[in-house]
Amino acid sequence: MIAKNNRGNFGSKLGVILASAGSAVGLGNIWRFPYEAGDHGGAAFILIYIGCVLFFGIPIMVAEFSIGRHSRTNTARAYQILAPGTQWKWVGRMGVLAGFLILGYYSVVAGWTLDYIVQAATNGFAGQSADGFIGAFNGFVEHPWRPAFWMLVFMLMTHFIVVRGVEKGIERSAKIMMPMLFIILLVLAGCAISLPGAGNGLHFLLRPDFSKLNADALLSAMGQTFFSLSVGMGCLCTYASYFRKDVNLPKTALNVGLIDTSVAVLSGLIIFPAAFAVGIQPDAGPSLLFITLPNVFQQAFGGLPWLAVILSVMFYVLLALAALTSTISLHEVVTAYLHEEFNMTRRKAAILVTVGCSILGVLSSLSLGIGKELTVFGMTLFDFFDYLTAKIMLPLGGFFIAIFTGWYMDKRIVWKEVSNNGMLKMWIYRSWLFLLKFVAPIGIAFIFINELGLLK
Ligand code: PFF
Repeated sequence: MIAKNNRGNFGSKLGVILASAGSAVGLGNIWRFPYEAGDHGGAAFILIYIGCVLFFGIPIMVAEFSIGRHSRTNTARAYQILAPGTQWKWVGRMGVLAGFLILGYYSVVAGWTLDYIVQAATNGFAGQSADGFIGAFNGFVEHPWRPAFWMLVFMLMTHFIVVRGVEKGIERSAKIMMPMLFIILLVLAGCAISLPGAGNGLHFLLRPDFSKLNADALLSAMGQTFFSLSVGMGCLCTYASYFRKDVNLPKTALNVGLIDTSVAVLSGLIIFPAAFAVGIQPDAGPSLLFITLPNVFQQAFGGLPWLAVILSVMFYVLLALAALTSTISLHEVVTAYLHEEFNMTRRKAAILVTVGCSILGVLSSLSLGIGKELTVFGMTLFDFFDYLTAKIMLPLGGFFIAIFTGWYMDKRIVWKEVSNNGMLKMWIYRSWLFLLKFVAPIGIAFIFINELGLLK
């Protein structure tokens, strides 16, 4: 039985855009994008990334919106409504599983941001050397309970917003947090660009080095696209099930894609000038953000300690806000699924998700410290969850969503959703279908096959 009657709705179009952009903009933009770009040649990676956003990400986002709004239910049930009696439901179920796994390690990094807010606010970065920051970060993530504690705090914050429901919880929090995020981002980008030595960072970000582009870089750019846009696992499909009928789906997707990509590039404009200014390599990996930034605040503004404190607190608050609007959306995918599929209350469903993800979170957190030796395919549990979801499950989900909408779904329904029942002029409709039918599936398949080395 689906609890259809008490489904919430987003109250306004601005709320729809801010909540969807809130899901998309997150640690993926500010933490993951810079280190992936740093690892794979900077500007060249960014160009491939933008190509993936245009040809895979945004078209598949419109497809997810259409599936979700038409079926008005969680992402697994959506396929049962649109394709009853078929195996398409597994695409939805895989999405729910991906959401659960992502939340399980994403919340660990989200927790780090809270600890860093406290450290920044108590002037804990003062007087440290570059090596000191590296040691402090490694000591922190390897600590047996400190990161796990903050992960739990973050999970509880997410839980309480999700339990409040779509309009009062998700929409209202996005309307407060997203504008704050943009203001902080702009202030920090301005500061970073004006640092002495920042020019090398800009150079790295804007001058492509194609020699670093290989199969791995392509897979990483594609994975980053799906991850960053929250596409490929039914997250925006779930949000769209709460959209009203007059929301313009293609326009919303374009806005979300634009906001998400701008935030990623702006984050690059903060991190790379900052990294080069203090002599840290851009390919430092996942720790980049947590080592470079405190270092910069100290070196650049150490003479004005109050300014160093304010800017560093702002930066980690920015990260925490961005992460929160994303963890909410991940949580919602799984909560809506359990609530509607197993006929339990929203509260009970949310408690199950919070407990389950917290257990995964503790395991992922421990896998960076005392559980380091325990590896899966040579990766720590944390890295394995990241690889499995971002580089395999989301692109695979995106592949099937493109095929489902492009080839299988009744085109009258597709047209009705995309054009709001013929009310909107949709001159891009045919090109969009072409992208879904051919370009996205072939492109995604090519990148997978290329990665497996089968083309050599
Ligand atoms: N898009 C989020 C980010 O960039 O941080 C992460 C994410 C949220 C991925 C929701 C997938 C998802 F469904």
